[in-house]
Order: sequence, then C-alpha cells, then structure tokens
Amino acid sequence: MKLACITGASSGIGREFARRLDAEGYNLILVARSENKLKEIADSCTNSCRIITADLSKREECMKLGEELAKESLDIFINNAGFGCVEDFDASDLENDLKMIDVNVEALQILFRKVLPGFIARDAGIILNVASSAGLLYGGAYMATYYATKAYVTSLTSAVYQELKTRGSHVKVCMLCPGPVDTNFNNVANSKFALKGISAEYCVDYALKKMKQGKLTIVPGNIVRAGVTFGKFLPRKMQLAIVQHQQSKKR
Ligand SMILES: NC(=O)c1ccc[n+]([C@@H]2O[C@H](COP(=O)([O-])OP(=O)(O)OC[C@H]3O[C@@H](n4cnc5c(N)ncnc54)[C@H](OP(=O)(O)O)[C@@H]3O)[C@@H](O)[C@H]2O)c1
Repeated sequence: MKLACITGASSGIGREFARRLDAEGYNLILVARSENKLKEIADSCTNSCRIITADLSKREECMKLGEELAKESLDIFINNAGFGCVEDFDASDLENDLKMIDVNVEALQILFRKVLPGFIARDAGIILNVASSAGLLYGGAYMATYYATKAYVTSLTSAVYQELKTRGSHVKVCMLCPGPVDTNFNNVANSKFALKGISAEYCVDYALKKMKQGKLTIVPGNIVRAGVTFGKFLPRKMQLAIVQHQQSKKR
C-alpha cells in the first residue's frame, strides 16, 4: 500500500490532495493545526489515515514532525502548508510576516530536508513543494513578504531538482505554482482575487498529472501559465509595475 503525507491538509489545496490520493488508494498522513477538520477528513477516507496536529510556525514542532516522517516509507510528500497577507510593507504586521516566513520557508525547508534522504535511499517517490506563481516573479507589491517566501521555495526546489537529476536519481522533486485558487487563502490573507480563481479540484488534478511525469514547474491554468511565461521576458521594473497593478486589485 502506498503512503502519502500532506501538510496543510485541513483546507483548500491540501484537503483536495488528501481526497484525491485517498481515492487513488494511498494511505495518508495529514498535518495541520485544526484537529477537528483533520478528523473529519480522516473519517471520510477509505484507506488508513493518520492525523498529526502541529503548528508549523514552531521550529521544535517542525523538527519533531520531520523526524517522525523520516521514519516512514513515504511515496508522496506534499509540502503545502502556508499563508499570505495583503498589506503595505511599511505598515505590515511584523510578527505575522515572521510567522509567514516560519511556515512558508522554514517549515518547508525542515520537512523537505528531513524526508529527502529517505526518498533518495528508496530511489523513488515524489516530493511536491507548494510555491505559487508569485514565486516565479520578481516581486509583488502589497504582498512583498509572501512573494519573497514563495521565491525562496521555487529557488530551493529548482536547485535540489538539479542536484538529483545529475545524480540520476529517480526521485521526482516538483513545485506547484498556481495563480489564484478558490480556497480559504483569501480569508486568511485579508484579500480578494484580481483574476478569477481556479478550483482546488482543477489545481490538484493538474498537479497530480504533472508531478507523476516529474515536471519541475507546475503551473495550472492557461492564463497564469501564459502570464508567467510572458513575464520572464519583461525587464524587472516593467514586470514589477504590471504585477503591482494586479496586486492593487486585491486590496
Ligand atoms: N489559494 C491560492 O490562491 C494559492 C495560490 C498559490 C499558492 N497557494 C499556496 O497553497 C498552499 C495551500 O493554501 P490554500 O490556498 O489551500 O489555503 P488554505 O485553504 O488557507 O489552507 C492552508 C493550509 O495551511 C495550513 N496551515 C497554515 N498555517 C499553518 C501552521 N502554522 N501550521 C500548520 N499548518 C498551517 C492550514 O491548516 P490549519 O489552519 O488547520 O493549521 C491549512 O490546512 C499555501 O502554501 C499557499 O501559499 C495558494
């Protein structure tokens, strides 16, 4: 029986990954802070589902979780927990921004680093780091910290992908870079979308297809995919101005 672990599984994209992987016959380990929501998801699963409540903004909890996961024979690890916030940087809630860095960057780094050696030893499996289309752009005014955290994720994932590729490893390391997805993200971020969001179902369906093919950069949705591709050819300041224009609609 195959085993998958998903962080941030209590809501949105993570919850949809749980639903889909359960339907595909995986046993699951689900991680988030909201125990009740995780229990509800576990109750609806057909296969075995273990829940782990952890606050991934706390380094000790991430380390402990990482050590537990390192003992498991994971086939899929989805490093998904994260959140954003819309605000002017100079008026931002510094504590909240630091917590965002703890969850989006530090927790992702710890868990990625702790589970990867097991995947390499088994020479199989898929690790998906959930970034964002934000992580493929130079920066996003009014979500400066969020964009920076996601740029970290795309840089880290790309480098590790390259290290494994040159070693001939069969481990697939991928990053999911969606634009807007209809989840609880906006409620947490105090935001509204500038573009129509895709559904979590579509996002996860697309991600599953591409991660199984071992695609490094997974961008669901034609408009966002065209946008990030086109964006690469723009001078930095021009791209920043276009992104700012879109971002201003989120406030
Ligand atoms: N929705 C979008 O438009 C969008 C676009 C691009 C990328 N993303 C990325 O997709 C990922 C999932 O977001 P989503 O859209 O599905 O949002 P969501 O519905 O708000 O889900 C976020 C998940 O992260 C978990 N989480 C947040 N802080 C946590 C903490 N301190 N410790 C443990 N778990 C924590 C939440 O669980 P608890 O609250 O129960 O802890 C929840 O399960 C994030 O990394 C996000 O940046 C989202």
